[in-house]
Amino acid sequence: MSLFNREKVRLARCRVDYNNIPEHIAIIMDGNGRWAKKRALPRAAGHAAGAQLIETILEYAGNIGVKTLTAYAFSTENWNRPEDEVNALMGLFDKYLRRAFKKMMLHDVRFHLLGDIEELSPSLKSLCTQLEETTKNNKTVLFNLALNYGSRAEIAYAAACVARDAANGTIRPEDVDESAIEKYLYTAGQRDPDLIIRTSGEKRVSNFLLWQSAYSEFVFSPVLWPDFTPACLLEAISEYQKRSRRFGKV
Ligand code: FPP
Repeated sequence: MSLFNREKVRLARCRVDYNNIPEHIAIIMDGNGRWAKKRALPRAAGHAAGAQLIETILEYAGNIGVKTLTAYAFSTENWNRPEDEVNALMGLFDKYLRRAFKKMMLHDVRFHLLGDIEELSPSLKSLCTQLEETTKNNKTVLFNLALNYGSRAEIAYAAACVARDAANGTIRPEDVDESAIEKYLYTAGQRDPDLIIRTSGEKRVSNFLLWQSAYSEFVFSPVLWPDFTPACLLEAISEYQKRSRRFGKV
């Protein structure tokens, strides 16, 4: 970390209450394309910079006590991007996940994929499955990677599972409640995100965690994802700590 960044972290740190760190932070990592364009680089270079950064942010988040970090890496709609960009992203996921085994074991991180694994290439599918299996007993941080993820599809899938249960008599239709749906979501059994950060100044949800974000706090950072430092994360946490979370109560 450069001296300048270290100073920014120090300043941001002053404003953070370490007894009130959000347990689950989810991030919409936006702005890779614009970051690359500003530097006259191909979009893939922005994604590569963004991929490197998620490692830093994951490690930092774990160090300050975040229990779950969820990163939105590829949506079901992202398949509509130009073929070379999709290929570059798939290559990055492959490279990142291959080298993640060692680091995740070292930092006691459990990996979990959010998304439809069936549409991934056989090698990526097998990497994700192996990484989930290898890290399944790790406890310090849970890292959810949303890859080929779409929240509406996730909810529709859960509804179909519940309909199947009703049809085969496992559940009566009148007993279908929130927990009956929740257990079929990719995030089954997990705490909902306390804080959702979207970088790059865009203020959209983009089909991300629609069910799980019912009471999440949103922070929109103007910083493009590849420039999002640990200090930016602390600033977002500091903003979160100013909010009064009432969960519908007064
Ligand atoms: C959105 O920025 C970003 C994506 C669609 C890809 C996110 C992927 C990464 C950060 C890298 C891969 C992560 C891992 C875990 C290996 P954009 O391309 O829409 O940017 P723009 O809005 O500036 O065009």
